[in-house]
Amino acid sequence: METHREWLSSLLLLCVLPSLYGYPFRPPLDLDVTPRTTIYFTGLLGGRRFRGSSMNYSLLVLEDGPGVLYVGARGALFALQASDISSASPKTIDWEASEEQMNQCLNKGKDSKTECYNHIRFLQRFNSTHLYTCGTHAFSPLCTYIDEREFRFSSGFEEGREKCPYDPTKGYTGLLIDQQMYTASQYEFRSFPDIRRNYPNPTLKTEEAPTQWLQDADFVGSALVRESLSSSVGDDDKIFFFFTEKSEELTPYFSNNRVARVARVCKRDRGGLLTLQKKWTSFLKARLVCSLPDYEFHFNVLRSVFYLEASSPQDSVFYAYSVLEIQWAFEGPYMESKVDSGSKWTQYTGKVPEPRPGSCITDELRERGINSSINLPDDVLHFVRRHPLMYRQILPQERRPLLLKRNVDYTKIAALHVTGADGRIYHMLFIGTDEGWLQRAVKVKDHLHIIEELQLFEEPQPVESIVISEKQRSVYVGSHTAVVQLPLCTCSRYSSCFDCVMARDPFCAWDGLECVMVTSNHSRANLTQDMFNGMVGCERASADDQVLRRSRSVMAGDDVLLQCELSSNLATPEWTLGGQHLQGYGLDSGFRIGTDGLLVIGAQTYQSGEYCCLALENGVHVPVVVYSLTIRQEVPLRPTQPPLTTENNWTSPQSNSYPTSLSPRFEFLSVRNMETMYLSLIAILGGLCLVLTVILLYVGFCLQGRGGKYSLRAEKKRVAHMELNTISNNCNGSARDGLLQVVPGEAATSPNKEPLPPAPPLPAPNSEHEFINGFSATLPSVLRKMNGNSYVLLRQSDGDTVSPLYYSFTEELSRILEKRKHTLLCSKPDESSV
Ligand SMILES: *[C@@H]1O[C@H](CO)[C@@H](O)[C@H](O)[C@H]1NC(C)=O
Ligand SMILES: *[C@@H]1O[C@H](CO)[C@@H](O)[C@H](O)[C@H]1NC(C)=O
Ligand SMILES: *[C@@H]1O[C@H](CO)[C@@H](O)[C@H](O)[C@H]1NC(C)=O
Ligand SMILES: *[C@@H]1O[C@H](CO)[C@@H](O)[C@H](O)[C@H]1NC(C)=O
Ligand SMILES: *[C@@H]1O[C@H](CO)[C@@H](O)[C@H](O)[C@H]1NC(C)=O
Ligand SMILES: *[C@@H]1O[C@H](CO)[C@@H](O)[C@H](O)[C@H]1NC(C)=O
Repeated sequence: METHREWLSSLLLLCVLPSLYGYPFRPPLDLDVTPRTTIYFTGLLGGRRFRGSSMNYSLLVLEDGPGVLYVGARGALFALQASDISSASPKTIDWEASEEQMNQCLNKGKDSKTECYNHIRFLQRFNSTHLYTCGTHAFSPLCTYIDEREFRFSSGFEEGREKCPYDPTKGYTGLLIDQQMYTASQYEFRSFPDIRRNYPNPTLKTEEAPTQWLQDADFVGSALVRESLSSSVGDDDKIFFFFTEKSEELTPYFSNNRVARVARVCKRDRGGLLTLQKKWTSFLKARLVCSLPDYEFHFNVLRSVFYLEASSPQDSVFYAYSVLEIQWAFEGPYMESKVDSGSKWTQYTGKVPEPRPGSCITDELRERGINSSINLPDDVLHFVRRHPLMYRQILPQERRPLLLKRNVDYTKIAALHVTGADGRIYHMLFIGTDEGWLQRAVKVKDHLHIIEELQLFEEPQPVESIVISEKQRSVYVGSHTAVVQLPLCTCSRYSSCFDCVMARDPFCAWDGLECVMVTSNHSRANLTQDMFNGMVGCERASADDQVLRRSRSVMAGDDVLLQCELSSNLATPEWTLGGQHLQGYGLDSGFRIGTDGLLVIGAQTYQSGEYCCLALENGVHVPVVVYSLTIRQEVPLRPTQPPLTTENNWTSPQSNSYPTSLSPRFEFLSVRNMETMYLSLIAILGGLCLVLTVILLYVGFCLQGRGGKYSLRAEKKRVAHMELNTISNNCNGSARDGLLQVVPGEAATSPNKEPLPPAPPLPAPNSEHEFINGFSATLPSVLRKMNGNSYVLLRQSDGDTVSPLYYSFTEELSRILEKRKHTLLCSKPDESSV
């Protein structure tokens, strides 16, 4: 009971209303979940990839026993090793559409880029030795058998137009059950959508007249529930179909004319004798309601369904529909269509014939001599024919969605049960997006926590299928260009106890030394995990060990950015100075907190001290970095230049070795350093080129306005995108001026149309030094680093040279940008503000 209730509550996750975009609506805060960490393509760990000679790897079929992942692609089928899909020489069947067929397809005016190929749409096991497959075959579907061992076609092709849609993108679902094939689709453009059993005889279909059972239906999934196995009443197995169709009923809700539905048929249905001949006698459908009534918000388009089988059918759940709940709807009152209600459907209140229309044949009916649907009385079949729709709607337990996300278009979902270190069973969800991201989420109590979002592909492309193998501890994702295999979890990503526990990943726990995957081999008592709150169990001392320590020394009057990048999107930065909480980050306080650090504006000597950045998450403060900031009144005496090689040696803060400087007094430099000089000059020239490019780019973006791709991407609420936003905020000409001011020769040509805010004061040569004790610098996000580099080269041209390896490039850029953002709010921030 408990299990299915929980599942039910996650029902609405599957429902996406495309008109969400641009709708003046803000989801309730607790439903709009931010993924805790964002992992970009370059940061993926343990991923494997398969990319054959073809494309459109849309169909994945996993056979966990033998460890084979079958892949249906465009013009090819593959059998990959599930343990490592990238391993050499996969078994392949090439199955292209014939040239003649392609030409015919083109002559029909079909798209030569996608439609006139053979897209594999169906691939399932037929018997112990053979698979069965269907392809669109350039708008002329074919099906055939595959000898599994040889991995080749074992026979000729069969006509596929009754089993497989013509269009590679048409909604379609199919099942091979006991060598009978059940499919649902709108096979041809002009045909009615249809749920059918077309193999072997007798073929059964849905009714089209006088009542059309399916209205422009778009199918997303189907599943068999073996209800006969444990049935005390001799019930039949049932097959469920999930789809979106045109709404027929009058509803109190706003609805954009589409509704999400579940339909079911009985497996041993044989059709009627006279009425409903070769038609289902057990077809019933009901509405799935996905809505947030308080917000007048309704999700009507079904995208994906996942079936999670439990030991008994009663406990089994479709993602996320309880079988019990659906049965409750199918056992309730029927709807009817009356002419006087404008042929809209309303509740049927008349007499219902016996045996109950639409039910499967049970022992009770057999006792009455009704051995199969063929024996059903005519009045029952007449009723079935006119009343396919149920009155009851299937609601989620919480009467609300589990998750609502703006600007993310989910395409596929898969789920599995995970036992946490506390012994509880959690529901882990893998949700794919239309841009090729995979979100790993866990349901804790009745809320969803997105542990991380992973960018699976460099090129944005929709996730088309997700399959999970607990045996291989892998999740496989198919898309347009590749199949990706990822570990179910990557606990090693979390380097500290706090990080491990705050992640709230049921797979991961801290064993005292590292973040490990919870397996049955572990003594659970020795593992630290806090699924409910993500805070209990770590010692403060363990965090102190991880703290970065840095020293900085700056001139009074300078602006200083003390960088602090938090790995978690859910953490907020807090700062202390000498152990005291820094209060009031307003304009007058002299401090400003950004998403990536603390800006000390016009530093004064009394502001020297030890600054500590703390990440506040789940109510726990975790120290991240400590800066010893020294603010000096006078220009320090410059010591003799140390050899260049010590530049990188940041491990000795006491060594007085300042980063190399190409000061105007370079006649004092040694010959060796002169060499360096020339090299640097070359770098400077290169740098200037880069600077000009950057300026051009900036100008380009400014001319494009804020609708460019940066601001678009900024809406994605990802941290790095926020940073892009930072840059685009500076695009009203000001950033350009700011940059130009750094290069004196160019500054004069800058069009000063309006009074400019004060430029950030140029740092005095060598006024900033930084050393890191022991730890390497945290890597800033890629884009910032890129911009940071170009900025540093810019500074070189100003004679204010720093080593190209000088690590705080990014800080310098951030400083300028922070300053800019702070002094000129050029326009209102993007929607992305959380
Ligand atoms: C196949 O992949 C290409 C991109 O590689 C994409 O444009 C096309 O829409 C895909 N076709 C189907 C049917 O998914
Ligand atoms: C499986 O089906 C194929 C195709 O009908 C047939 O050739 C083969 O003999 C069958 N195998 C078994 C074990 O029944
Ligand atoms: C139903 O099956 C039983 C036993 O198999 C048989 O005796 C009976 O005649 C059948 N009834 C009909 C109507 O076919
Ligand atoms: C768990 O223990 C079994 C046997 O004791 C061993 O075969 C297996 O590899 C272990 N698994 C892990 C993940 O250590
Ligand atoms: C925890 O681990 C230690 C050694 O790693 C072991 O001696 C101890 O028995 C474990 N505790 C439990 C409760 O299993
Ligand atoms: C850094 O300096 C210390 C002491 O000055 C020295 O022992 C160490 O080898 C140096 N490291 C590198 C990488 O140069």
